[in-house]
Amino acid sequence: MIYLDNNATTQLDRRVAEIMLEVWQSGPLNASSQHAAGRSARNRLDDAISQLGQLLGADVDSPGGDALTLTSGGTEANNLAICGIGDTALPLVVSAIEHPSVLQCAGNQAAGGRIVRVLPVDSNGVVVLDAAAELIARAMPRPSLVSVMAANNETGVIQPIEQLAAICNDAGVPLHVDATQSVGKLPVDFRKLGIAALTATAHKFHGPAGIGLLVVRSGIAVRPLLHGGEQQLGKRPGTEAVPLAVALALALRLAIESRDASSALMNACRDHLETTLRGEFPEIVIHGNGVPRLPGTSCISFPHAERQTMLMALDVAGICCSSGSACASGSSQPSHVLTAMGAPSPLVDTALRFGFSRLSTLQDSHQATVAISRCYGRLGQKKAVEKSP
Ligand SMILES: Cc1ncc(COP(=O)(O)O)c(C=O)c1O
Repeated sequence: MIYLDNNATTQLDRRVAEIMLEVWQSGPLNASSQHAAGRSARNRLDDAISQLGQLLGADVDSPGGDALTLTSGGTEANNLAICGIGDTALPLVVSAIEHPSVLQCAGNQAAGGRIVRVLPVDSNGVVVLDAAAELIARAMPRPSLVSVMAANNETGVIQPIEQLAAICNDAGVPLHVDATQSVGKLPVDFRKLGIAALTATAHKFHGPAGIGLLVVRSGIAVRPLLHGGEQQLGKRPGTEAVPLAVALALALRLAIESRDASSALMNACRDHLETTLRGEFPEIVIHGNGVPRLPGTSCISFPHAERQTMLMALDVAGICCSSGSACASGSSQPSHVLTAMGAPSPLVDTALRFGFSRLSTLQDSHQATVAISRCYGRLGQKKAVEKSP
């Protein structure tokens, strides 16, 4: 099997699995308990949070500094940001290509009466900055929160977060960034970016599923989603999963340490796949390939093969890829991302996503390219036969 669905989730790094097991086996771990075992759990938890802050460029160690809240993953962190930051009586601004954990949360708020404005993207899938300036800086009433992802999960297209942060800061509006796809793959410096909040999740960079985080800049209040405990300053009550927090910190450190080499490898794998397929099938469309993308992510429309049929044919051939965002896969919902980019429906209906990771090899890319080429060649031909009189 060749696994090319690394934007959905990644293989757990062996070293991360080992540390998790070690912490789990070290004894009972409730960081709120007032005895020696509790203090030991607290030390490990505080150490993990401090490391995460340093790795992300957030100041979580100073009193009154940035707040890092551990969550169950990116979905919860996004919900916490959208529902918990800013006055919900004032408008919310999100981009059209956000993950469903942002868009559906925004939709829920719209159903409750909040004004939600949507930032358009251009044909490459990049948020249009002029529209952003219009909706953020010049809109009245001013929005109380803007949420834009750092890089898109379907196309890998990187968003102009620095420019958006400048627009938001000039207008005095907090910017939340869902950096779920980019953390561990692109450099992140929370303080330098000047953003209000950032979401990340461990399973996108070879950590375990079930843990993520929301960093919030010092001075910005967050209303909790959950109630019933004082853990994490009441912002996310519930006994903290110390082994998962330690694993998250190690996974992020490993990802950052190997980032340059991993990016080069992932890009080489992607470039081989895209260049070879394009050479063989000039009609394929590679979405967002004219603008900066995440290393190793490729979203390709194969105009002569419906995406679900192609996905299944590739699965039979031992290639794991995706026909949309992980949460939408299995369903036949057309991609809201490609639709927002203005892609015509024949391209939306035939798009597949391939994602390499630092554990991928050039051999994987080569074998996958051969398999994709065979499947598409066969399905494309079949369609031509079916269509012939
Ligand atoms: C951009 C983006 N945001 C949020 C999420 C949700 O993260 P999690 O699976 O940790 O809840 C994902 C997962 O696919 C994602 O790609």
